[in-house]
Amino acid sequence: MFDNIKNCYNTKDFRKLAKKILPGPIFHYIDGAADDEVTYRRNTEAYEQCDLVPNVLTGVENIDMSTTVMGQKLEMPFFLSPTALQRLFHHDGEIAVGKAAEKFGTMFGISSLGTVSIEEIAKKITTPKLFQLYVHKDKGLNKSMIDRCKEAKFDAMALTVDTIVGGNRERDLYTGFTSPPRLTLSSLFSFAMHLRWTFNYLTHSKFELSQLKDYLQEGTNISVSVGEYFTTLIDQSMDWKAAEEINKYWGKAFALKGIMSVEDAKKAIDIGATAIILSNHGGRQLDGSRSPFDQLSEIVDAVGDKIDIICEGGIRRGTHVLKALSLGAKACSGGRLYLYALAAGGQKGVEKALTNLHSEIERDMKLMGVTKISQLNSENIRFR
Ligand SMILES: Cc1cc2nc3c(=O)[nH]c(=O)nc-3n(C[C@H](O)[C@H](O)[C@H](O)COP(=O)(O)O)c2cc1C
Repeated sequence: MFDNIKNCYNTKDFRKLAKKILPGPIFHYIDGAADDEVTYRRNTEAYEQCDLVPNVLTGVENIDMSTTVMGQKLEMPFFLSPTALQRLFHHDGEIAVGKAAEKFGTMFGISSLGTVSIEEIAKKITTPKLFQLYVHKDKGLNKSMIDRCKEAKFDAMALTVDTIVGGNRERDLYTGFTSPPRLTLSSLFSFAMHLRWTFNYLTHSKFELSQLKDYLQEGTNISVSVGEYFTTLIDQSMDWKAAEEINKYWGKAFALKGIMSVEDAKKAIDIGATAIILSNHGGRQLDGSRSPFDQLSEIVDAVGDKIDIICEGGIRRGTHVLKALSLGAKACSGGRLYLYALAAGGQKGVEKALTNLHSEIERDMKLMGVTKISQLNSENIRFR
């Protein structure tokens, strides 16, 4: 089964393999999105409704695809967005993802709902590390996560601002997905049919939400759905003042993840953020919200010279990255692109997904006639 990674040439191939390997509830937790999943589909479709316009005869032997974002030099213009519960997808979880990011010299996002501790990640992973913060009602927990990241010398923090309540992820309702997985009559069949995953889950270190377990039972010892988690434990009073205070307390590179409007992009600058991540959480929150790529030009025109803009969501191909960079994004990031690969083969899977993406970006830059990403601009792209 592991050999099949070699034959995964794109995200669709990895998705197919992940679907075979994972029990249904876990696959659909990764793959699913909110309501009718319209925004989720649009996130990728938006990239398919415009075209690149190449230049030729420019001498393209040596390609430099590096970029600097949030003060970090990345060897490729794509980094790995923070995602929850990674040891459910593969028993090596965040360590596998971080090691793969390290090989490609790119940044690795670690979720508040991560399954390996901040300290262990700091010890084992040297590539730039971005911690993703969810603000909980428990203020002691919020402070402890920031303090631990300071102590562990993480490079950047992203405050997620689009999950003030949980999105309506209906696939999770159908499958009964919870963290940790709860065995129900309907899910039992799926776990029994995916014995390799079940064996690995049961024989590796016990599942936990490592940043939260000393403060909360939910998610580690008490099974909860992701919707229940957000709705009961996240601080719904969070506002711009709170975001500003967090930024000050953290004191290093700081991004707001889930900014979509020009008005909010300007407020992000006012509170001193280093970056905004244009994102709708991969379509998992507000279905019917605009795709980041559709919204990108508007944001770049308004604030592109004042803050780093990261375009995130729906990216499946190197050409998607080049399109976002042409419109003024400094870098792109994504979740499912590497999560299917993590499920399919752990670190080797993520490395293959990044190899595919890296070679696509390199080939596509040559075909576009550019040797540096700074040479891409809006002249390179047309909407139909
Ligand atoms: C399984 C899964 C778990 C996620 N967990 C988190 C999380 O804990 N924190 C967060 O800010 N975003 C989370 N996200 C959203 C991603 O960071 C990112 O916004 C999204 O995956 C981008 O869309 P893409 O998957 O199409 O690339 C998660 C996404 C997925 C698919």
